[in-house]
Amino acid sequence: MSQAFALIDKLAAEADLSRAELRLLLGARDESSADRLFEKARQARHAVYGRDVFIRGLIELTSYCRNDCLYCGIRKSNLKAERYRLTKEQILDCCAQGHELGFRTFVLQGGEDPHFTDDVVADLVSAVKAAHPDCAITLSLGERGRDSYRRWFEAGAERYLLRHETRNEAHYASLHPAAMSLRDRLECLEVLRDVGYQVGCGFMVGSPGQTLDHLVDDLRFVKEFEPHMVGIGPFIPHQDTPFAGEPAGTLELTLFLLGVIRLLLPQVLLPATTALGTISPTGREMGVLAGANVVMPNLSPVAVRKKYLLYDNKICTGDEAAECRFCLQRRIGGIGYDVAVTRGDHAGFSCQQAIASA
Ligand code: 5AD
Ligand code: FES
Repeated sequence: MSQAFALIDKLAAEADLSRAELRLLLGARDESSADRLFEKARQARHAVYGRDVFIRGLIELTSYCRNDCLYCGIRKSNLKAERYRLTKEQILDCCAQGHELGFRTFVLQGGEDPHFTDDVVADLVSAVKAAHPDCAITLSLGERGRDSYRRWFEAGAERYLLRHETRNEAHYASLHPAAMSLRDRLECLEVLRDVGYQVGCGFMVGSPGQTLDHLVDDLRFVKEFEPHMVGIGPFIPHQDTPFAGEPAGTLELTLFLLGVIRLLLPQVLLPATTALGTISPTGREMGVLAGANVVMPNLSPVAVRKKYLLYDNKICTGDEAAECRFCLQRRIGGIGYDVAVTRGDHAGFSCQQAIASA
């Protein structure tokens, strides 16, 4: 048996591999080892979540951002980016439409926009929760302090996505301006968990300067931090950023990492991301077949979608929410999986809640 096969079997049996073993596995991967990995990853996800794929309605609240991440199309230095903010009414309309379409989780995402103060966000979260008490609210609004995170949690937000982007200090520094630090990012993730959120971290695959050793750092971090969600997708260059000329991350490596993450954390909520669907027409389906169990179609009003471009050629920017919903139904059904009309909580969540309230 090849070395990669032996490592995959060990990973599947023990849900763990050492740093050195992960490095060997990533270095030795090929088509046949990927097939074996995906097979094991599907077995692991079927044992926990069956054939359900959870959907999250993504609402992009604001394209204003005070940050200047070198990879991101809505960075503040990009003077060509068109800026918009959704109103509370627009956001509630998106949720109402999403609810009709079977969404039971709304992800409120945006740039780090000072307009969205603690009060504004808390009021928004309460309003969405009051209108849809059967739904989970996920926030993805970047780095804030404990008090902000706590207020929003108390208003009814239960999940928070904050990708760590890379677990390597020097690599983090090469992707971000000096004002940002990996330490702050990791501190936010700790605080979010401490406040009580189901937390998602994650990273880009193939970001400029990334090595396999960096990815091993990311995988060890994911295993040790044990988040409820892990969002990974290929880096895709945006024409009006310093990384315009850099190559995109590959489909092959992203899928392989999805399989590895599923086996490291069998219960994790793992999206097949829009970026994966952007680098390949069937990227999201392949992501599900590699171990992903979540898709996050866009519910933002069509009028603003082309203004929330983190990278070039983003898919679905001209489609109505209903079109994406049915398109995904067809795509997921086509590979033998079912779109679930549920909140889609982490498998450990209800028992954690029960323990907390006992
Ligand atoms: N390519 C791929 N993903 C990107 N993101 C931001 N810019 C890009 C890009 N150019 C990702 C980051 C961020 C998430 C919201 O989108 O990982 O955390
Ligand atoms: Fe948007 Fe297919 S998911 S058009």
